[in-house]
Amino acid sequence: MTNELYIGLMSGTSMDGVDCVLASFDEKSHKVHLHATHLEEIPDALKKEALALSQSQTNPHFTKVCELEVKFGQLFAKSVKNLLAKSSYTASQIKAIGSHGQTLWHHPHPPYPFTLQVGDPNIIAKETGIITVADFRRADIALGGVGAPFVPPFHEWLFNSNEPRVILNIGGIANITLLPRDNEPLLGFDTGPGNGLMDAWVMQHLQTPFDKDGAFAQSGKCHEGLLNKLLSDPFFALKAPKSTGKDYFNLLWLQKKLADFPAISTAEEVQATLLQLTAKSIANHIQQYRNKALVLVCGGGCHNPVLLKALSQHLGNNFTIKTTQDYGIAPDWVEAACFAWYAMKRIKGEAVDLTKVTGSREPVVLGGVYAS
Ligand SMILES: Nc1ncnc2c1ncn2[C@@H]1O[C@H](COP(=O)(O)OP(=O)(O)O)[C@@H](O)[C@H]1O
Ligand SMILES: [Mg+2]
Repeated sequence: MTNELYIGLMSGTSMDGVDCVLASFDEKSHKVHLHATHLEEIPDALKKEALALSQSQTNPHFTKVCELEVKFGQLFAKSVKNLLAKSSYTASQIKAIGSHGQTLWHHPHPPYPFTLQVGDPNIIAKETGIITVADFRRADIALGGVGAPFVPPFHEWLFNSNEPRVILNIGGIANITLLPRDNEPLLGFDTGPGNGLMDAWVMQHLQTPFDKDGAFAQSGKCHEGLLNKLLSDPFFALKAPKSTGKDYFNLLWLQKKLADFPAISTAEEVQATLLQLTAKSIANHIQQYRNKALVLVCGGGCHNPVLLKALSQHLGNNFTIKTTQDYGIAPDWVEAACFAWYAMKRIKGEAVDLTKVTGSREPVVLGGVYAS
């Protein structure tokens, strides 16, 4: 008998597409089975609209946000239909969809901490005919948590082992999970920029959405002065729990730091420095907690060999870097599978313990359920 089927939808801060998986979870062996996967493109115009809003420093027009709720809701519904079309299953066989939503702002700071993911789950549920679970992050914030990252409990469920392991997700923002040793609690937090700043810089200079295989970064030389300036940003020294977003680490943030370095003349020098910033900040954070570990990498950054090499150099010989591919799931689908897992948790009414990860006060049942 097949375990219950769940769909996970994840559209990260990179806005490189909507990751969709049809998954089932084996509670005994702690294995995930992906029955179908699909990457739904985000139309350019919609991506531009969402990016412009999420990085605007002034109050955006309210109707724009409401329109994006609808546009992303429709896109997510379409993603599910395309995913199902690739699979041998129909909507009636799916227990629920877990939809993360598209983050527009993530600002978990006082006095009014908030996070906003758009993509109306009512639309997803009604258009697909499948119960949809969404709005995962706000319950965590309501309980005093920083609202991210959410993948650590799923990483623990899927990758736990007796050997010391760190799971590293390099999306637009990077986050790590420190799988617990002995009686340690589960820890995990955002380490800062992942691919996001590099993406924004190549978009500005080469008009391409990302630096394929890190080639542009490799053609330049890291500027140590700029790197140190970037690393001196207070976010990197903050203690966990901590989370961040593209509304903080963006081109505006970079331009302010670059103002001190008028002599930097080439775009590739900046790109090389941004790559080192991602690698070094991740390595620094891992080394604060571990002096030896297997580092399992997932997210789009694992396709950038220059980035992984830099990370390996900063971490040194005590750390082995591998992707999650040989550990039960291809690296591109981990986050979407995570939200399918969260849908399962919600439908079963099981609380998730993020207390040591996000700092929320207590374990909590996450997500709202929207009827089909
Ligand atoms: N071949 C590649 N070379 C360099 N970077 C890549 C490659 N493939 C994917 N990426 C990076 O991965 C990003 C997408 O990663 P993803 O995990 O989907 O992030 P998010 O969760 O923010 O959507 C792209 O924007 C790009 O920067
Ligand atoms: Mg993505």
